[in-house]
Amino acid sequence: MAQKRFQAPRGTRDLLPEDLVLIRHLERTAHRLAASYHYLEIRPPLFEETRLFQRSLGESSDVVEKEMFTVPRRGRSQDPGEAFTFRPEGTAGVARAYVEGGFAARAPLQKWYYLGPMFRYERPQKGRERQFSQFGVEVFGAAGAAMDAEVILLCLRFFQALGFGEQLEVRLNTMGDPEDRDRWREALKAYFEPLLDGRCADCRERFQRNVFRLLDCKVAACQEAIAAAPKLRPLLGAESGRHFEEVLAGLQALGAKVVEDPGIVRGLDYYTRTVFEVHYPPLGARSALCGGGRYDGLVAEMGGPPTPGVGFAIGLTPTELALKELDLPPKADLADLKDALKPQIYCVALGEEDRAETLALTTELRDAGLTGIELDARGKSFKAQLKEAGKRGVHWACLLGSEERASSTVVVKDMQEGGQEAVPRAEISAWFFQRQAAASTGAALP
Ligand code: HAM
Repeated sequence: MAQKRFQAPRGTRDLLPEDLVLIRHLERTAHRLAASYHYLEIRPPLFEETRLFQRSLGESSDVVEKEMFTVPRRGRSQDPGEAFTFRPEGTAGVARAYVEGGFAARAPLQKWYYLGPMFRYERPQKGRERQFSQFGVEVFGAAGAAMDAEVILLCLRFFQALGFGEQLEVRLNTMGDPEDRDRWREALKAYFEPLLDGRCADCRERFQRNVFRLLDCKVAACQEAIAAAPKLRPLLGAESGRHFEEVLAGLQALGAKVVEDPGIVRGLDYYTRTVFEVHYPPLGARSALCGGGRYDGLVAEMGGPPTPGVGFAIGLTPTELALKELDLPPKADLADLKDALKPQIYCVALGEEDRAETLALTTELRDAGLTGIELDARGKSFKAQLKEAGKRGVHWACLLGSEERASSTVVVKDMQEGGQEAVPRAEISAWFFQRQAAASTGAALP
């Protein structure tokens, strides 16, 4: 009987070397931008106590209710709160690390970023996976609107650096302070109560559990009532109202395209004041590329002293998909990265007796720090080695035979431009360094 062939679990995929060309480009862009805004990298564990997510994201959020990858802890009760959950997002774990590390007392201002996999048990569909990566930033200890603007601008710059154009826009809203939200909750309850009979079953249930979630309903028949529901903006207190205006003005002063959008409510409980998404309208229904906002109550919720926080997370999968769909990949950069999939220099032994010296040459080039150095490991003949080098698209072949060994030289054959030259063995690494540097700067060689 044939053996079962295994498949990657539904909603996951293998990122093969050719997929990683674009993904690594996104990651490099993230690291580069984080460095220029001086955000430091943090790597919390991939799983945390389930309770951490229940407490921070909210028991009635979709993520906690339906989408968590949870594993029971050995020898503990089966109480779900006792379990571990693979992180569905980064903010909760990063805030936990901030509190656990005691930063509030010794260095309250921390600007951190992370890149890595998140896990949500969602129905897989285009751009939604059960394992996906996020690039996120979280800033602790800065309450002013200037920090909201910095975080949002960094987010925008990420997409601009990737080639997203003029139509990129920030959709901005505010969730207010807890007192503002209390007023809003009452207003929403009073508004929806007489309308409940016409609402879907989910809305009726959400009305009881968390009336704000009713605003996330996607059922077509509920949209009219939702659009006419009371808004938070008129109910904002003076301070949170001013904060919102300052974020808006700060972003406009920096030249960002900002749209006020009361429809941005975000599905997680920890948000206070600023919430935002970056959208690219040419993508249609899936135009949202990231989400973020302020969470001034989260650190206290995690057991730390009251500490403001603000951040965002960008899904790398939706970004990757959008780039492909719009045919935006920055072609020049990617061509360089694609070259990394090919060996650059292939060391070829003319005869069997030249193999040891060819291995020594290969090792020398690798130790010198040159990249993409290969040699034959399958006992191929000289002709077959050259053919293999050509097939794999290498730039140079280094040919080593008894003559070269006797004269301490290497014959370097340019497999792309044609031609060859004998290079003294002692100068071979420098010769290649000079060429690789010339290739990356486009400078002509003497
Ligand atoms: P979120 O809106 O749940 O926010 O997720 C942020 C981004 O992650 C989304 O805009 C989307 O690009 C991506 N994403 C979410 N789920 C999936 C999925 N199943 N497959 C692929 N991509 C996905 C947060 O996660 C918050 N922690 C953001 C934040 C940070 N707020 C403040 N700081």
